[in-house]
Amino acid sequence: MTGICIQTSGLTKRFRRQTAVQGLDLQVERGQSFGFLGPNGSGKSTTIRMLLGLVRPSEGSAAIFGHDVRRHGLAARARVGAMVETPAFYGSMSGRDNLRLFGRLSGSVTQSDIEESLRIVGLSARADDRVKAYSHGMKQRLGIASALTPRPDLVILDEPTNGLDPEGVSEVRGLIRSLTSQHGMTVFLSSHLLHEVEQVCTHVAMISRGRVISRGAVPEILGAGQVEFEVDRASEAADLLSRQDGVTVLWVDGSRFALSAQQGAIAGLNRLLVEQGFNVSAIEGRRQSLEDFYLKVMREEKA
Ligand SMILES: Nc1ncnc2c1ncn2[C@@H]1O[C@H](COP(=O)(O)OP(=O)(O)OP(=O)(O)O)[C@@H](O)[C@H]1O
Ligand SMILES: [Mg+2]
Repeated sequence: MTGICIQTSGLTKRFRRQTAVQGLDLQVERGQSFGFLGPNGSGKSTTIRMLLGLVRPSEGSAAIFGHDVRRHGLAARARVGAMVETPAFYGSMSGRDNLRLFGRLSGSVTQSDIEESLRIVGLSARADDRVKAYSHGMKQRLGIASALTPRPDLVILDEPTNGLDPEGVSEVRGLIRSLTSQHGMTVFLSSHLLHEVEQVCTHVAMISRGRVISRGAVPEILGAGQVEFEVDRASEAADLLSRQDGVTVLWVDGSRFALSAQQGAIAGLNRLLVEQGFNVSAIEGRRQSLEDFYLKVMREEKA
């Protein structure tokens, strides 16, 4: 199934002294697993809260499955399951009873949906314990279970791996993959764990101070890399390559220079140098991780 799942246009939230989100234009398509990244305080949770109708936008609009979240909030959220920051549960009730309660609030949830959610997040054995006896990670898992129980088409998770142990992080990774691949859901999540996002997400948007500063498909970001050439007449060679599409020269130093380009372009760049009579003595490539890319984008933003 294709189509637009989340669309925001000029979405803005001003608190009294603080502009938390400023003119945000986002588009998430069905079937994507979309990572929303940015430093602390950059506006991720505020954006998610606006999508869920928990915070009123100051300006702009947001729609989920084509329904405006302000004018048609119920329709917009009908097929959405969500967990925002640390989920709030009734401490004196069991995990299972909390899911029953929240499931009743959100409509037609069956007992088997609840059992399935508990199983997916690995809480079945502790489902009858009171939530106040849960560890932080168990509460986090219960939050994810609660988001999944209505079997939504879109799952919105604000830092789903926050506070989980490495096994939990890895389980949530598998879980999120299965939501898109096996259950046909679309996932929108915020996270600081770039290594996880790299493995789980198909697309990302990076925000800083309430604005999107970069976005893209994860395979394209990872396909780019940094390459160092060692060659005679390095500055001339760098000059020649800098005129090729998709190439940015990063530095020239003596007989070496570095550039960023798609990995697939490197052989052609080498051929060009040889054809133009340069003597290429070494080429060293390094794939860029999502973290490399994120740090570069954030450095440029600060500069
Ligand atoms: N209710 C509120 N009243 C006033 N300011 C707020 C409120 N909620 C958020 N803010 C401010 O809005 C900005 C964005 O906060 P937000 O929680 O959206 O960031 P975040 O990207 O989710 O950060 P983190 O990664 O730490 O979770 C911050 O400067 C924050 O102080
Ligand atoms: Mg947040």
